[in-house]
Amino acid sequence: MPVTNDEFRAALPLFPSGVTVVTTRDEEDRFHGITVSAFCSLSLDPPRVLICVEKTTGSHLALEWSRAFVVNMLSADQQESSERFASQIEDKFDTVRFDAGIDGIPVLLGCLATLECRITTAYDGGDHSIFVGEVEKANVHDGDPLLYFRGDYRSISE
Ligand SMILES: Cc1cc2nc3c(=O)[nH]c(=O)nc-3n(C[C@H](O)[C@H](O)[C@H](O)COP(=O)(O)O)c2cc1C
Repeated sequence: MPVTNDEFRAALPLFPSGVTVVTTRDEEDRFHGITVSAFCSLSLDPPRVLICVEKTTGSHLALEWSRAFVVNMLSADQQESSERFASQIEDKFDTVRFDAGIDGIPVLLGCLATLECRITTAYDGGDHSIFVGEVEKANVHDGDPLLYFRGDYRSISE
């Protein structure tokens, strides 16, 4: 017998995670960014990661078109960026500072690390798709991560 919806939704927030913003662009050259905690390292050789993105989001369509994305791992002081990219505001990049990365896709400034990826495969995962990306470039910086646990933002020192 499958798990009930309530049981499933009660269990998932008990897995603590970091927070990323996945950026990409669409065929009209508009930037997309989505807050994603469903990020995971997948393979060291070749270097691959995966992200899970809900099919109804604007970013999903853009990812299918661009076949590339940047994973921006947020620092402890970037909660506002997480909230911004989880919202439906018109121009999410309005007040955000970034450089151009792979295929001109935004690489956010102030992150703990960024991974520039080319999509190799997309899998059906139910109401989400699993995008596998081969990492072409990685940048790392000092700092502490932004964490998410029990539906709330946390810091590593808590
Ligand atoms: C902490 C946090 C983690 C999230 N993780 C994911 C995720 O892993 N995958 C996903 O599809 N949506 C995730 N979301 C929801 C999206 O960020 C949200 O639906 C966003 O508005 C989609 O933007 P878009 O429609 O402009 O692409 C998360 C939201 C928050 C606050």
